[in-house]
Amino acid sequence: MYRNWEELTVACNGCEKCGLCKTRHNVVVGVGNPQSEVMFIGEGPGENEDLQGEPFVGRAGILLDKMLCAVDLDRNANIYIANIVKCRPPHNRDPKPEEQDLCINWLRNQVALIRPKIIVCLGRIAACKIIKPDLRITREHGVWFEKNGVLMMAMLHPAAVLRDPRRKPEAFADFLALREKIKQVCEYTYQ
Ligand code: URA
Repeated sequence: MYRNWEELTVACNGCEKCGLCKTRHNVVVGVGNPQSEVMFIGEGPGENEDLQGEPFVGRAGILLDKMLCAVDLDRNANIYIANIVKCRPPHNRDPKPEEQDLCINWLRNQVALIRPKIIVCLGRIAACKIIKPDLRITREHGVWFEKNGVLMMAMLHPAAVLRDPRRKPEAFADFLALREKIKQVCEYTYQ
């Protein structure tokens, strides 16, 4: 476990724990304010993220930023965004369970340094890994869970909303619920 952010970032950038290191262009460690009370966790980098070294910078990321903006959240100010796996799975396949297991300690270390009050899981893969393995994203997005004193919620993945725009209202409702929870439990996110 690294105690400071610089050491963690350097070590993570050099990671060769799994085969994804062979095809990556960049390790996508995360983006945002390390002092955030709210953390978002996605699945893994896609092509754009791999090339730019930042999470959620493709089409799904643009939609995510719009929804965040609507509830006064901003990746450059009051949240932190990371992924379950830090390197792109080829052809955007799902990260394999063994890749997730080999990568998860980086995320655990990030959570330990940030100590968020709220964790939002974007999509099924992140929700099943972080909240509970049998989480049903269609039924349980927007539902609050508590684990080790941290409030957690799954949201629909923005890429899923892009594939089926009829799901936009239910996706947006979760952001509104998040805003209310932040107002209840966070001290400086909305200052
Ligand atoms: N999808 C994810 O889950 N994470 C990213 O960083 C980009 C797309």
